[in-house]
Amino acid sequence: MERAVGPCLLVIFGASGDLTRRKLVPALYYLASEKLLSDSFAVVGFSRSAGSDEEFRRRLGASLREFVRDPDARVWSWLERRLHYVSGDLEDAQALRRLSAKMEDAERSYATAGNVLFYMATVPELFASVARRCAEAGLAREDRGFRRFVVEKPFGRDLESARELNKSLLSVLSERQIYRIDHYLGKETVQNLLVLRFGNGIFEPIWNRRYIDHVQITVAEELGVERRGGYYDHTGALRDMVPNHIFQLLTLTAMEPPISFEADALRDEQVKALRAFRQLRPEDVLTFAVRGQYGAGEAGGRPLSGYREEPGVPPQSRTETFVAMKVFIDNWRWNDVPFFFRTGKRLPCHSSEIVIQFKRVPQMLFRETGEDRLPANQLVIRIQPNEGIALSFQAKVPGPSLRPGTVDMDFRYQDYFGHKPSTGYERLLCDAMLGDATLFKRSDMLEAGWSFVQPILDVWAALPPRDFPDYPAGSWGPAQAQQLLEAPWRRWRACGR
Ligand code: BG6
Repeated sequence: MERAVGPCLLVIFGASGDLTRRKLVPALYYLASEKLLSDSFAVVGFSRSAGSDEEFRRRLGASLREFVRDPDARVWSWLERRLHYVSGDLEDAQALRRLSAKMEDAERSYATAGNVLFYMATVPELFASVARRCAEAGLAREDRGFRRFVVEKPFGRDLESARELNKSLLSVLSERQIYRIDHYLGKETVQNLLVLRFGNGIFEPIWNRRYIDHVQITVAEELGVERRGGYYDHTGALRDMVPNHIFQLLTLTAMEPPISFEADALRDEQVKALRAFRQLRPEDVLTFAVRGQYGAGEAGGRPLSGYREEPGVPPQSRTETFVAMKVFIDNWRWNDVPFFFRTGKRLPCHSSEIVIQFKRVPQMLFRETGEDRLPANQLVIRIQPNEGIALSFQAKVPGPSLRPGTVDMDFRYQDYFGHKPSTGYERLLCDAMLGDATLFKRSDMLEAGWSFVQPILDVWAALPPRDFPDYPAGSWGPAQAQQLLEAPWRRWRACGR
């Protein structure tokens, strides 16, 4: 059943930034076009750049056309007139008063009933002070409606700063007011993992070490760092993608069945899986984790510049733009099954997928084929693009000999459900307005994720890379990433197949 949200004012901090125009406003547009927003809905954007309501609307209107194909003018006009803007610095008391006044105006004009969802789309260094300033100004008090705060990623830079941020937020807000977002959990295909695993009788019995050889997760981006060089250079691929998006995919694949889909039941299982990740000893880091940085390269005959030439990136940067890893989950189900993942910028294609590779047949009966062993069965869950699920298996190739060949059963979302464009943020924005925290992170999940990556951060910081850049833009990362897979029958699946 579709769930429409009630009256609500959305206040976006960092409203002139990339996230607002790339993801949040397109997501609001898609929600509006599905009529999932209330008539009593409005947005107040806040950021340091000067500007008026009109300029804010014009800017977002222009970028909407960049990110949404053929936007419907009626839907946009419904949303556009609800967009308002306040410029200023939160540390300035006057700016805060202006924001407060604008929020009161909006509440009166749109009957938003005192419900406010604050969205922190700012640089991460400001998360704690945004919450503090709002609380000091009385904006976090839930006298009339709800006051909730969506906190973006990265949540901290390491274990200690994540704990610190949590402490700061909890000193001015209560846990139920905090929504730590990870937009991967808003993606249909990521949620579908739960349905695939727990809505079917055939997969769960073989979802374990007896039948699975290994799991691979690829989150590949064709794009470079675009206009985010300044942010990215302080963050790097590990912090940007691993303790959040990759660990979401990994835990949903590996966790035990939850007892229900209540917020805590699901998150309890994710945390249990995270805590079972085998901790890396410092001496294992360089063998279990591979980093890389792209240099100049090309794609489709087009030259691509190297990371160090991107705007906002220092020419000697040692920040990694690629990471690949091997992880073991030390529990009954997964003992000794390696989970491999890789993610990076400027890879040959845009593709996110999870591959479950099953064990090979124990005996090779088809000797005439001349191959030593048959390729193993793979279940491929395509998160994006071409969302779907494919199972590869062996079939007899027609002809006089008993020759096996690999074929696919392929389910495509689009064939069954049509194509509904989305950003991943739609469902999460609705859930936050509805007060459903199931798909948001708890602080223990974040801490468990950071605890696992901490030794890698430490060893990498102590041993800066000497060979960066080490992969050409448009390639699959450094050669070491290929070697992680160890056995000859294990290969990273070629993307886009
Ligand atoms: C963001 C990262 O969280 O996720 C970006 O900060 C990355 O660097 C993006 O590009 C990927 O998201 P998606 O939805 O395009 O796969």
